[in-house]
Amino acid sequence: MKRELALEFARVTEAASLAAHKWVGRGDKESADQAAVDAMRTVLNQIEIDGEIVIGEGEIDEAPMLYIGEKVGKTEVINGTVESVDIAVDPIEGTRMTAQGQANAIAVLAVGNKGSFLKAPDMYMEKLIVGPGAKGCIDLEKPLIENVHNVAKALGKPLTELTISILDKPRHKDIIADLQKLGVKIFAMPDGDVAASVLCAVIDSEVDMLYGIGGAPEGVVSAAAMRALDGDMNARLKLRSEVKGITLENDKISNYEKARCEKMGIDLNKVLRLDDLVKDDEVIFSATGITTGDLLEGIKRNGNIFRTQTLLIRGKTKTIRYINSVHNLDFKNDEIKDLII
Ligand code: FBP
Repeated sequence: MKRELALEFARVTEAASLAAHKWVGRGDKESADQAAVDAMRTVLNQIEIDGEIVIGEGEIDEAPMLYIGEKVGKTEVINGTVESVDIAVDPIEGTRMTAQGQANAIAVLAVGNKGSFLKAPDMYMEKLIVGPGAKGCIDLEKPLIENVHNVAKALGKPLTELTISILDKPRHKDIIADLQKLGVKIFAMPDGDVAASVLCAVIDSEVDMLYGIGGAPEGVVSAAAMRALDGDMNARLKLRSEVKGITLENDKISNYEKARCEKMGIDLNKVLRLDDLVKDDEVIFSATGITTGDLLEGIKRNGNIFRTQTLLIRGKTKTIRYINSVHNLDFKNDEIKDLII
């Protein structure tokens, strides 16, 4: 993938984040998401690529834009040819946080060569993630506590100095208690396990490992970040009834999920390794803060001037850039202005 494309993708998450900003704290998740989707799509269509959304906002009949299979990019170029890429998007990772004005909401995408991402169905996924220091030391076939010991050993830390990030959800209550009994520190995030995953692998973070059940599409985006940052990840798809309990409604959804996995040739019981989730290192990962969080600064507005902070990683060379941008809306075209204010 051409190096210059990386900056183009940073512009995409910047646009999504800027568009989401006007909905921060307004209690309307749907409008926030739609604004970010529209902005992401508009900017993706300005880039000279032959792109396909492989992780998106849902199937064509349930998502008006950025649906799985949607083609994006500008393919008619005057000179040369365009590259074919697969794109995993999450226009707002943390819709509830955006709507409630809480920390840690980001706009995020990952781009890879054609066929490089697992086309994960929209269901739950159990995730175990570590940074470069513990690469190769995790195995979801083994009990969690054994993994925790192995990661601590690889990092040369006593358990009391190990920090594990986990979504603060009722389904994780017992696991959190068990881990705390073991002596490790818990970093519980109310939502947003993509940002929490990235924190395992960036240099100035205290988080060593992530464990827990979250969305499968978010899992693939996290896997792309681990590829880019030289971290590691194991995962296993989970039926809704296994996560949310057995009810008639959950059983119905689980039967649909099972049929979907069968059709896609995905073995539900298989532990997915990083290679199964994202095939190679040639990925670009971009995330822009919407609200200020542990990973990124959120949008700051002063009249028509907006500041954004973006984390842009090129997997091939492992270059990590934090891009602080200042956007002056007085100098943008009407299409972009309309998306933002
Ligand atoms: P959304 O922004 O799509 O709401 O996702 C937030 C999130 O916390 C993800 O980070 C996580 O993977 C998933 O939701 C967990 O799902 P649930 O809220 O059903 O527990």
